[in-house]
Amino acid sequence: MISIEEMAAFCKRRGFVYATSEIYGGIAGFFDYGPLGVELKNNIKKEWWKFHVLSREDLVGIDSAIVTHPKVWDASGHLNSFQDIMIECGNCHERYRADVLVEEKTKKRADGFSAQKLGQLIKKHKIKCEKCGKDTLGKPAPFNLMFETYVGAKRDEEAKAYLRPETAQTIFTNFKLVQENARLKLPFGIAQIGKAFRNEISPRHFLFRSREFEQMEIEYFVHPSKLRECPYVKDISDYEILVYSADMQKNDFKPKKMKIKSALSKNVINNPWHAYWLFIEHNWFVSLGVNSDDLRIRQHLKDELSHYSTDTWDLEYNFPFGWKELLGVADRGDYDLQQHMKHSKKDLSLFDDEKKKRFVPHVIAEPSLGVDRAFLVFMYNAYNHDKKRENVVLKLHPKLAPIKVAVFPLLSNKKELVEKAKEVFDLLKEEFNCFFDVGGSIGRRYFRGDEAGTLYGVTIDFDSLKKKEVTVRDRDTQKQIRVKVKDLKDVVNRLLKGEKLSKFGKFI
Ligand code: GAP
Repeated sequence: MISIEEMAAFCKRRGFVYATSEIYGGIAGFFDYGPLGVELKNNIKKEWWKFHVLSREDLVGIDSAIVTHPKVWDASGHLNSFQDIMIECGNCHERYRADVLVEEKTKKRADGFSAQKLGQLIKKHKIKCEKCGKDTLGKPAPFNLMFETYVGAKRDEEAKAYLRPETAQTIFTNFKLVQENARLKLPFGIAQIGKAFRNEISPRHFLFRSREFEQMEIEYFVHPSKLRECPYVKDISDYEILVYSADMQKNDFKPKKMKIKSALSKNVINNPWHAYWLFIEHNWFVSLGVNSDDLRIRQHLKDELSHYSTDTWDLEYNFPFGWKELLGVADRGDYDLQQHMKHSKKDLSLFDDEKKKRFVPHVIAEPSLGVDRAFLVFMYNAYNHDKKRENVVLKLHPKLAPIKVAVFPLLSNKKELVEKAKEVFDLLKEEFNCFFDVGGSIGRRYFRGDEAGTLYGVTIDFDSLKKKEVTVRDRDTQKQIRVKVKDLKDVVNRLLKGEKLSKFGKFI
């Protein structure tokens, strides 16, 4: 697996991701997506929405503002509790996230540790400032991650507002309107994809920890008397997942591959809804080609839980810098709705027709995934250095590949081939994201397509002019067939749906 620095260099070279405003030296924790990157990112979001919202009856979506009423963040607890522990060097004044420094030195988890505990560990392990190398790190202290801004022409306390640090809260503030408008009956979920901002102390590992990122979140609500009644769990009981429970971590056991039914019957996963949503998220990645050996679910230890959660599991990916959180599935209970009811003085409860009384639904699971982390996972999973071809082949899933078809005239200096190729390109681009490439030898053009993850290369040669046929080359196998131009759209469509190349012609 290539390092994260090598991945960042590849992403820049191929136009996936750049450091933002690079001509001015960039700004840590902010990134821009280039021509290939924006297509891949849009495909990830489109597939997530299709899988989680459009294909289900119990989920609807919203798209809310980034700046909200500031009271939202008071009610949610973010103004008080959304913090990491920071430590500053007394000599060079570099600032660090204390748990990250400790984790890097001890190779053990320190996320969620108190300032006091982190201070003790920094002393015990004689951790020095990474920048100046001196033994002058000060006392760890909490640092709030909220990004502030001002709304309107004034710059005073009253005009102060915040960029949202998660998309979740506006799902809660809109809960009642959405439930009524969409006539939702429990259990149901509300989803949102959108930007989030966190003033991270030390953004690291390229897209993994940035200050501006996107989230794809679901709040899944159930009746408080039906917290364990998941009707879907029986259908997934034989699905296998690598499990790392809090008990396994405490006892220094290794993660274990388990079937969902066994994890539930042995109480490793406590609630069937958690097992179900962990399955859904794991399965989404696997359905888009991610190797399940690189995924595991890990339960938060007690001291790691967010202020609103009683149980949280992360889906983790085996990155080159270790197993790290890809998404979280938190049990938020009724914390958020209760808080917003208290602070807004508005009723967000529902009416129970059977018991004839009002109640506040619980969020039994909040699957929350960062788009940019998913992007990184799909890139790592797809990145292959093909020794025979001596080039990178980006084996992205057909649904995610930024470009589906590249169209090449065999020779770029033959007008009749270029004209015919342009015709074929115009035909295909009505339906697929295509690329017209005339630069360099045909080998160089295949090479560029492979690196971009382009699924099929369509070449127009002299025979194409006579027989109205083109060559279709498969990215992963390099196998080629001849296809009539009149059939090309249909063939590409069927290939994208998973049919085999050999079905449409003999290999040449
Ligand atoms: N609403 C719950 C919530 O926001 P979180 O664990 O803080 O929970 C959820 O964030 C997901 O958002 C993470 O699993 C990760 O994928 C993504 N994420 C969080 N902070 C991030 C950052 N600084 N950079 C990139 N992605 C981030």
